[in-house]
Amino acid sequence: MTAIQTAALTPALISFDLETLATVPGRIALFVEGEVPRSLAARRLDRLSRGMLSKAMGSEAWGKVKPGEALELAHLPGLVAEAVQLIRLPKKATSDETRKAGASVTRARGKADILVLAEGVARLEDLFLGLMLRAYDFTTYKTGEQTVKGAVNVSVPEGEAALEAARAVAEGVIFTRDLVNEPANVLTTMEFAERLTGLRDLGVHVEVLDEEELERLGMRLLLGVGVGSECPSKVVVMTWKGSDAEPFALVGKGVCFDTGGISIKPAGGMEEMTMDMGGAGVVAGVMKTLALRKAKAHVVGLVGLVENMPDGRATRPGDIIRSMKGDTVEVINTDAEGRLVLADVLWYAQERFKPTGIINLATLTGAIIVALGSEHAGVFSNDDALCGAFLKAAAAESEGAWRMPMGPAYDEKLKSRLADMMNVGGREGGAITAAQFIKRFIKEGQAWVHLDIAGVTLGKGDTGLAPKGATGWGVRSLNRLVADLLER
Ligand code: BES
Ligand code: ZN
Ligand code: MN
Repeated sequence: MTAIQTAALTPALISFDLETLATVPGRIALFVEGEVPRSLAARRLDRLSRGMLSKAMGSEAWGKVKPGEALELAHLPGLVAEAVQLIRLPKKATSDETRKAGASVTRARGKADILVLAEGVARLEDLFLGLMLRAYDFTTYKTGEQTVKGAVNVSVPEGEAALEAARAVAEGVIFTRDLVNEPANVLTTMEFAERLTGLRDLGVHVEVLDEEELERLGMRLLLGVGVGSECPSKVVVMTWKGSDAEPFALVGKGVCFDTGGISIKPAGGMEEMTMDMGGAGVVAGVMKTLALRKAKAHVVGLVGLVENMPDGRATRPGDIIRSMKGDTVEVINTDAEGRLVLADVLWYAQERFKPTGIINLATLTGAIIVALGSEHAGVFSNDDALCGAFLKAAAAESEGAWRMPMGPAYDEKLKSRLADMMNVGGREGGAITAAQFIKRFIKEGQAWVHLDIAGVTLGKGDTGLAPKGATGWGVRSLNRLVADLLER
């Protein structure tokens, strides 16, 4: 039996006869708790290997294996398999522990097929999600002999529903990761819009607003960011209408590349700014998951797609631009472009949809990385209930999120001599003044959460459920928030 290989690894469910365990080629992954083999499969492996499994599980090495981690037993006697991977799953394993255990099966995946013996695992959906998320690898641009990865076959009774549920989440996360990992010469504003249009196949309503339309709407802040680029700016509106309720809105910053514009960034590390569309990537991933699992919720996702480049026509420091809202902004630093994009898209989202709540996401400031590192996203809000619900969902998904303060003293720093406000508030509290800027474009009484995801969008190393690179942070939390808030 072979597994279907998609971008998201989809494990194949197989019915498997324990009698044939001795002759299974490739690798065997076995989930176990405690110090003695208990499950039917474990006892069978123990018997076939003349007690080698018991011996391993009584060893000091196994004692040191942490929950979700594994001990590798190569070439056990009595087995054709090249290795048995013993994965520790604690009693009453949490969702996170189960996902990590699943991840340790696919982290080291090579050419060999893997048979996963999942008998007795309580949280099957989490196991599948861990398997699929950690099987991800972005190899589009690696030429030469590609290592063909083996199939993953899971033996477990009645796993279909859990597999489908996990697949909906994994495909959303992986859609986000792929978008974030793509280089800017491929993922232009046009290509990004194209890929979002692809969500129509899943029943998402997708509209692409072009520059002429944005001009008519008065989105001059957003257009001013993209004016130095050869790529046309776009706003994409995605609607998933799974209920008759008023809509909830997700808004994302989609800067396909950020050089800083005329306030140009230093060369070192500039290549990382291909991830500056991370907020839009998360919005796209959530919409995909909602559609795949046919969520009974009404959610609109809006993304502002632009490229921030220096050019003869680019916005200059000191330029004053009128927003769609009507307020004027003195652009002190053209590298503080994300807030300009968000300001107009947020205003449009409120005018058009009157959403019951808004969450925006953006790789907005280096300052949030100084404050929180890559462990937590910065959370800013004017509404304790919505903010609390988000933090609860994020905690349940083990996606780090930490609420930051806001207040009028920070807002003061945005005062401009010439216009209604400046687009920067100085070095101190840079993530907070950025949030204050955005808040000026949120209507009185509108429940709103701003997520500054600059630190969590790209992993510097393995993050447990993802290899180095795009993490897909936020897709799981927002999907859960939709379920918690809108589907009950
Ligand atoms: N996209 C950057 C923020 C960023 C930095 C994201 C590092 C990911 C990693 C944003 O557009 C930016 O350049 N922000 C400036 C703002 C400053 C000019 C007020 C920053 O943080 O330096
Ligand atoms: Zn940026
Ligand atoms: Mn910038």
